Amino acid sequence: MLEAVKVGVLGLGTVGCGTANILSRNADEIARRAGRGIQLAVACVQNLEKSRDCDTSDIVLTEDADRVVCNTDIDIVLELMGGTEEARGLVLKAIDHGKHVVTANKALIAYHGNEIFQRAQDKGVSVAFEAAVAGGIPIIKALREGLAANSIEWLAGIINGTGNYILTEMGDKGRDFDDALKDAQRLGYAEADPTFDIQGIDAAHKLTILASVAFGVPLQLSKVYTEGITEITSKDVSYAAELGYRIKHLGIAKRTAEGLELRVHPALIPQRRLIANVDGVMNAVVVKADALGPSLYYGPGAGAEPTGSAVVADLVDVVRALTSDPENRVPHLAFQPNALSDIPVLSIDEVSTAYYLRIHVLDRPGVLADVTRIFAVHNISIEAIIQKERQAESTSVPIVILTHQVSEQNMKCAISELEELEAMTSQVMRIRLETLS
Ligand code: NAP
Ligand code: HSE
Repeated sequence: MLEAVKVGVLGLGTVGCGTANILSRNADEIARRAGRGIQLAVACVQNLEKSRDCDTSDIVLTEDADRVVCNTDIDIVLELMGGTEEARGLVLKAIDHGKHVVTANKALIAYHGNEIFQRAQDKGVSVAFEAAVAGGIPIIKALREGLAANSIEWLAGIINGTGNYILTEMGDKGRDFDDALKDAQRLGYAEADPTFDIQGIDAAHKLTILASVAFGVPLQLSKVYTEGITEITSKDVSYAAELGYRIKHLGIAKRTAEGLELRVHPALIPQRRLIANVDGVMNAVVVKADALGPSLYYGPGAGAEPTGSAVVADLVDVVRALTSDPENRVPHLAFQPNALSDIPVLSIDEVSTAYYLRIHVLDRPGVLADVTRIFAVHNISIEAIIQKERQAESTSVPIVILTHQVSEQNMKCAISELEELEAMTSQVMRIRLETLS
């Protein structure tokens, strides 16, 4: 067998140690798959004094990133430190030194992927990023290689474990939002800054990457419409359940005749859909492809070894391709770089979906007529309407409405007119509804 490939890692935290432990535990099988051994030789960390969750006795630890990215003994650099600007600089430096790169950093790829892939192409090296989306699920490989025959019509995914954990806890145990978030942080699911999880930013990074690989378009993070889960209440979760739906935080990328929809937001999904039953920190992505039809990819969306599993799979791919001509490698974004498409991305106002609305109105004659008149003016057709019981000491009653498909623009106008009604006692709560059929 050939000599082992030497690898350097930037960051030896949760994912770095998960990766190191897998490489050491499964060394023989990994070598049989890759065609040669893989040796984690050097690791750059911030604090040399910190204790590690992996055996570092055979790894040179350093605080100097250049000892990884400029190291002539190293063939492959793992970027597992996170962040965008410093990581960008180090990844570009590694590429300039002829290193292949494997990263789990979705923010880095979403912001700087176009530049990084161009530089990698110019230098004839690979940049692999399976672990950046949906943790351990091999969704990038599935889209880029397994579905290469297909035209992808749409994909919809639960791609943030923290958000899904919070919504599951609210639905199953009736816990409130802040309580469930604290738990997700304690369990290590949340990002260092949990606003990335709960405001949909992390999911937007991941959707940007999925859309590029699915449709062969450049990475376009700024065009993703992004809403988080902070407005969802336990009441909405239970009203949705009474109507046969579950609320999930989805990333949706859809090809339409007018352009691409790229959006991240909570949505009601019929309970009978498999993806509606993906709970806790688990992630899942449904892909609708023209030849295969629908397929579902499910698994842990975060954590040390699930994410390390994806990092090591990328490493094995890179090692297998070390001797192949760069032109014959799998393209970074699935499509050949000179064949990317400029399909326009639609603004959210151009998107049509069904809606769940929760309104609170004074319980008196004629109010419902005012509500339905506004809907009629804006061409909104109602699928179901339920008046819930008045809550103790409240002067208003909650009304839950499901609509048929309507353009976002029309719904926005209707909501602003509803909120001007004198009988309306609070803001309208609106959540999009996706049948995923
Ligand atoms: P983490 O536990 O905080 O580990 C980060 C590591 O990077 C630490 O070892 C830290 O050093 C080191 N580091 C940070 N800044 C550095 C710098 N400027 N120079 C040198 N070393 C630096 O983070 P993580 O959870 O492993 O996440 C790493 C990446 O994977 C992120 O991009 C994250 O979004 C992504 N990711 C994470 C998960 C997950 O489940 N955690 C899943 C998918 C993707 P010290 O240890 O000395 O502080
Ligand atoms: N904070 C992220 C999540 C980690 O909860 O999904 C995995 O990307």
